[in-house]
Amino acid sequence: MKVTPAMVGRQVRFMARSAVYIARHPASGRELPRLVRTRGRGTMHLRLPWLPFRVIDRLEQAVGPGSRVFEYGGGGSTLWFLDRGAEVVTVEHHEGWAAALRDRIRSEHWVLHAIPDDGPHPEAYESYVASIGEYPDDHFDVVVVDGRSRAACVRAAAPKVRPGGLLVVDDVDRERYAAAMDEVDWPREDVVGFAPAKPSLAFTGVLRRPDAVGA
Ligand SMILES: C[S@@+](CC[C@H](N)C(=O)[O-])C[C@H]1O[C@@H](n2cnc3c(N)ncnc32)[C@H](O)[C@@H]1O
Repeated sequence: MKVTPAMVGRQVRFMARSAVYIARHPASGRELPRLVRTRGRGTMHLRLPWLPFRVIDRLEQAVGPGSRVFEYGGGGSTLWFLDRGAEVVTVEHHEGWAAALRDRIRSEHWVLHAIPDDGPHPEAYESYVASIGEYPDDHFDVVVVDGRSRAACVRAAAPKVRPGGLLVVDDVDRERYAAAMDEVDWPREDVVGFAPAKPSLAFTGVLRRPDAVGA
């Protein structure tokens, strides 16, 4: 990927914002040593999700052999979930990333829906979002929303999470996801912290679907 001045400027702004945030909320910076240990390597190489370390710790408790995971947006997370013995479904819009995943993964526990970028129009990513619809309601232990059209993905994903399961949404500081997040009326924890190979803070929402009544 070609690094442009705009990308560098954006990253500098994120880092400056993170420094201000940590000054106000020092606990949010406490995984800095874990970030430093990942430096110079990408998340695919690290086989780690691109999510705050504290969210990875939480997922570690929630995911094991046979767990059902659905992710909008693949990467190091795909490898990490498979390494834990989960059954993983990945939806990926970027052909290069889909190919990189296919090159690395030979597993009967993985299904890839490679649904290419279909451009900026009102229905963009409709089939990407809808791909979770082929699975029954209450099916997944964990759904991670970390790709395209996240508000629509949150709405499509919520019924697919089993009672007691987790819906993880990255970049919840983006105002455009707020309404969809508010519609999911489950207990929610927002985790702000360092993530592997990311020199600025990540803002991730973790929603836990309440257990079924009488369970
Ligand atoms: C935020 S990333 C998704 C990351 C994935 N859920 C994970 O935790 O590894 C969103 C999209 O960026 C691309 N991508 C994946 N890993 C990436 C990486 N390490 N660096 C840059 N882009 C990545 C893929 O197209 C992916 O769908």
